[in-house]
Amino acid sequence: MPEVNDLNIQAVKENFDAALRAVSNLEELDEIRVRFTGKKGDLTLLLRGLGKLPPEQRKEAGQEVNKLRDEIEHELEITGKKIRDSENEKKEINERIDVTLSEKGRTAGAFHPVMQTMHEIANIMQGLGYSVATGPEKEEEFYNFECLNVPSWHPARDMQDTFYFPDGTLLRTHTSPVQIRSMLKYGAPLRIICPGKVYRRDNDTTHSPMFNQMEGLLIDKNVPFSVMKGTMSEMLNAFFGRSLKYRFRASYFPFTEPSMELDIECVECSGHDEHCRVCHGTGWLEVVGMGMVHPNVIRAGKIDPEIYNGFAFGIGLDRMAMLKYGISDLRLLFDGNVSYFMSGFNSGRR
Ligand code: DAH
Repeated sequence: MPEVNDLNIQAVKENFDAALRAVSNLEELDEIRVRFTGKKGDLTLLLRGLGKLPPEQRKEAGQEVNKLRDEIEHELEITGKKIRDSENEKKEINERIDVTLSEKGRTAGAFHPVMQTMHEIANIMQGLGYSVATGPEKEEEFYNFECLNVPSWHPARDMQDTFYFPDGTLLRTHTSPVQIRSMLKYGAPLRIICPGKVYRRDNDTTHSPMFNQMEGLLIDKNVPFSVMKGTMSEMLNAFFGRSLKYRFRASYFPFTEPSMELDIECVECSGHDEHCRVCHGTGWLEVVGMGMVHPNVIRAGKIDPEIYNGFAFGIGLDRMAMLKYGISDLRLLFDGNVSYFMSGFNSGRR
């Protein structure tokens, strides 16, 4: 075997083979690459030394060195690929996600009955073409009373009934101010519902200082009274899942004229139990306040009452939830005592 630059070609090859066998990662492979093919590497020295050989040796040695160079480059490439493949495989195994594993478990939870009720009624009304509107809970006297035709002498304005802030704003006492806000924002024609929290200075077995209402407003041309009655009975039938008996009673609200209250047959006893704990033997339950929107209210919404009319309604969502889910005490809805609540909830009708 010819020697070039004092290096034995065979020995370089053996050294290279031995080094390659011991390699275990890409850094080590790079060191070997430098050691043999770098500027001062053994292979480079062999190649450089070829020119110094006597011409008769040059050809054979040249062939040998070139062959060795090809071998070394080939081996480096193959080994590099093997190492990269095995590193990728290891990485893949470590990072693999087992999609067949069962999930970690869910926390138990459910909608509050009032939220459930709100969603159900909102769905029904959306099916009738109504959109959901919202308004602030901290409201101005102007929207809460003034625009709704509630005169300053009206008892509802009394400090006894309303939570006022020192700056004269208040916690809205009903969702009706959203009627005005929506008319001002969207104009006519209009169909909106507005679910939300309302506040009054009340706290006893049947009243909570915070409760939930859903307002509804329809404004269009030539809206007949019968559409209001039909809309309400459709909504209630869909909500309770059966055809109930209705009773429309004349009533009074400053923001509607004429005004009515809607009673449904008692969902507990249908009027057959004179000791019924839900209707107290009357056979009827008052569930909705409504009426044809007062022209002053339409005007406050910057709509011309000579051209447009409509109806509005207010539903007590807490009461609706109690009736549908058989919850007997209003306080159960807002009480923090979960086990007490669940026992009350489960003992009722579903
Ligand atoms: N705002 C009334 C209340 O809180 C409920 C109500 C009655 C709303 C009649 C209406 C309505 O829109 O037309 O008691």
